[in-house]
Amino acid sequence: MTNTSPLNKAIDHFQSNYDLYFKKFEEFLRIPSISADSTYSGDIQKAATWLADYLKQMGMQSVQVFQTAKYPIIYGEYLKAGANKPTILMYGHYDVQPPDPMDEWKSGPFEPVIEGKNLVARGSSDMKGQILAGLYAIESILDAGALNVNLKFIYEGEEEIGSPSIVEFIKEHKDLLKSDFCLNLDAGMLGADKPTIVYGLRGLAYFEIYIQGPDHDLHSGLFGGIVYNPAQALAELIAGMKDESGKILLPGFYDAVIPISEDERRELARLNLDEKYYMKQTGTSQLYGEAGYTPVEQIGARPTLDVNGLRAGYTGEGPKTVIPSTAMAKISTRLVPNQTPEMVNQQLIQYMQEHAPAQVKWEVKQLSSDPASVADRDYFATQCFVNALKEVWGVDPVYKREGGSIPIVSHMKDILGIESVLSGYCLPGDLIHSPNEHIHLPTWKNGILANIHFFYNLGNKDAC
Ligand code: BES
Ligand code: MN
Repeated sequence: MTNTSPLNKAIDHFQSNYDLYFKKFEEFLRIPSISADSTYSGDIQKAATWLADYLKQMGMQSVQVFQTAKYPIIYGEYLKAGANKPTILMYGHYDVQPPDPMDEWKSGPFEPVIEGKNLVARGSSDMKGQILAGLYAIESILDAGALNVNLKFIYEGEEEIGSPSIVEFIKEHKDLLKSDFCLNLDAGMLGADKPTIVYGLRGLAYFEIYIQGPDHDLHSGLFGGIVYNPAQALAELIAGMKDESGKILLPGFYDAVIPISEDERRELARLNLDEKYYMKQTGTSQLYGEAGYTPVEQIGARPTLDVNGLRAGYTGEGPKTVIPSTAMAKISTRLVPNQTPEMVNQQLIQYMQEHAPAQVKWEVKQLSSDPASVADRDYFATQCFVNALKEVWGVDPVYKREGGSIPIVSHMKDILGIESVLSGYCLPGDLIHSPNEHIHLPTWKNGILANIHFFYNLGNKDAC
């Protein structure tokens, strides 16, 4: 006997339309919507239009593409469930990270291919696949006639460059965006059998440091040794930012940091993410880091500082004897609650004032900056999501504070006054931001089923 409950109808709809949904997913992945590189601004527009069209085709109302100073923000809504039903704000970003280094991709980053159980393409896991996991679930419930929640959608094209336009946008459109809570699937899970609620994210303060020495590149034989080489100055400055125990030496860097409580330490330890796990994830034979903290503590609850890029002198084939006139480094710091990007900006400037050699000029530019966030784990919609994950995976989800950043989360709270349910179906091994990014299709499918349960329970059950 076939079971024709609306929930099963929705699941059937997804399963019987899987091929079509998969094709649409590939179509979305073929658009190289790279936000960091302005050469691709046309493709960003294309991805925005693609997504807006998809919302329209699903029957969502008032779909609009808002232009911003940079890339469009898409809005849409479905308000047919009525005022006594919750309104969920669906957040996502349709931009992706640059694919480089290109020669490490086994196939084209924007030519999706299946490899084993994975679909390989830039943006597959972070986060076009997560956007569609939300939309496909909604479509399936709609088809089963059981969509009894209100929805609003906000999709941005600038998350991977720090979301510079979205704060202004949500300030200006508070009424339009008024919702009960946000569902944000841009976080991830700890393993294919470990559905996860992310209850904290780190903030980010990102800088470029420019060093200027001689006013032009110099012959390193004719002038080497008598001028302060900017590449050397930069290397020394970077080296001085940490001591041998991994402690960050920007003046006052830890002053605002809230220590990890013993309870949280115990809880993080229970996740069983030991050194071996991180060695495997990173492909290293030895880890490094702040003395006195385990890797999972460092990633979730301690601030860190890293070099993300360096440019100086000649790096092409063969030798070129030259003293570069300039050097540049991209430095990111990941922040924990109570630290602000402005504080770190001041600390870095003070560090440079105290340590940069007098022979060079320097400049610090602040790029993206967003504060950390910690969410309420007991929030009703989070618990509702916990139940949906349980229904599909058959196990209790784990709770984790993640090291990554999603700028909008803290602003959803400050500006719109709403909590975010943070989860998603990205696995630690999905190689997000790296060559050969992929999404694990069985996990993606389970994720869509979990989303179906979540929307269904929220709209059709008294308690979920
Ligand atoms: N989806 C990631 C963040 C993430 C991944 C959170 C996995 C939790 C688990 C997001 O797209 C991202 O990469 N954010 C950037 C933000 C930055 C550019 C402002 C990051 O963390 O580097
Ligand atoms: Mn990302």
